[in-house]
Amino acid sequence: MTVHGTPAHPARGEPRGAAPVKPVESPASVYAYPEALERVWVAMAHAKAPRSSEGEAIDRVAPAATRLSELFTTARPVAFPDYGGDTESRVAYGLFFVPQTWVRTRLALAEVVEARGRALGRDGVVSVLDLGAGLGAAGWGAAHWLVARDPTLRARLLAVDRSAESLRDFVAAVEAVPSSDRRLDVETVVADLAAGPAPAVLARAPFHLVVVSFALNEAFPPPADDAARAWLASLSGLLADDGVLLVVEPALRETASRLRDLARPLVASGALHALAPDLDGRVALPHDDLRFVDHEVRRWRKPRSLVRLNRTLRRSLDELTFSFVALSRTPAPAFPAAPRRVRLTSPFARLKGRRAFTALGADGTRATFDLLERTLADEATRARVLSIERGDHVEVLDATPLRERGWWRLAGPDALRVAWTPR
Ligand SMILES: C[S@@+](CC[C@H](N)C(=O)[O-])C[C@H]1O[C@@H](n2cnc3c(N)ncnc32)[C@H](O)[C@@H]1O
Repeated sequence: MTVHGTPAHPARGEPRGAAPVKPVESPASVYAYPEALERVWVAMAHAKAPRSSEGEAIDRVAPAATRLSELFTTARPVAFPDYGGDTESRVAYGLFFVPQTWVRTRLALAEVVEARGRALGRDGVVSVLDLGAGLGAAGWGAAHWLVARDPTLRARLLAVDRSAESLRDFVAAVEAVPSSDRRLDVETVVADLAAGPAPAVLARAPFHLVVVSFALNEAFPPPADDAARAWLASLSGLLADDGVLLVVEPALRETASRLRDLARPLVASGALHALAPDLDGRVALPHDDLRFVDHEVRRWRKPRSLVRLNRTLRRSLDELTFSFVALSRTPAPAFPAAPRRVRLTSPFARLKGRRAFTALGADGTRATFDLLERTLADEATRARVLSIERGDHVEVLDATPLRERGWWRLAGPDALRVAWTPR
């Protein structure tokens, strides 16, 4: 019997997790996507089809969104075209991908900041570098979250991309969303990532946060693994002492496993430490069962314009799927050995008469934990336990090893305590 993560292939659709969508209570929620930003992309779509209603204008973006989506999943050319130069593609990116990037980046960053206790910024300023920024959603989403949770902080964001048009639309979007970003200064640089750090980047270094979102596999596509790894290693030179390099990639098997394969030797050599997703400072080897690739799946609240666009596209968007590593030159403090802390690498899946999840522990080992279904008779307990998602950190307070190697039986629902979950 196996219980594992779903195979990393979102294009085929992920089974729905049992976990409910969390409420978005404040701008400091990782899930908060500003309505004013959503309006920017809707207005761009409408400007292209002024005689249509807004909804129809959004529908007209569907073919361009489909083309981009296929480019990123099934097509994956050896050299990506400069789609940022095409207005329709940018509008499609803004409506379809920007909200996803925004929330994904914040989810990954929140784990570093909250679960690993890494404070970012100094003297009231956090400097962020977004490489392959496109419309800026990753660096901006990260900076927006950091300043939203600390009213004394200002963010300075430098966005680099080869597409001047994308960066121009990014700056226009920032200017159109003033209320949320009074404490954000933005600069942009048009440059090729493969050509080494641009002078403007070197001039602004060091950075507290360097974000590379869905850009590594485009700027350094396979088989250029040595170049990709050397580039990642070089980015550590741009980091402030406690700075974080956050690399987010699609959840596709080829991108998710490649990211971990690229990062693992950098960490094993001691040049960098992993702050997340692994809890022990390293990047674990793949599952024994090679059908399963470590990746993230999170329920989220989709913006209305994305729901509308997806009426035509019919993609599986109830969950955000991605993979990531967060690296730093300085390690995070180790988690105490007790209580045993693990991070879910699968959903809390239903098996016959029980529920089970796989996890990677703070001791670096993989394990499977199950819970008898009959212990979940109480509705409130059941809701609490089944709201635990892949990627959450839990403390295992009472579990007994089963005969099958690596399997543990939880004594009951109270044997499991959520230690960190994004909010
Ligand atoms: C899939 S988009 C990601 C945009 C944004 N980071 C996000 O996550 O939404 C990839 C971006 O990388 C940029 N890019 C690809 N190769 C590049 C290169 N060699 N130099 C600079 N930018 C590059 C593209 O122009 C595009 O904006």
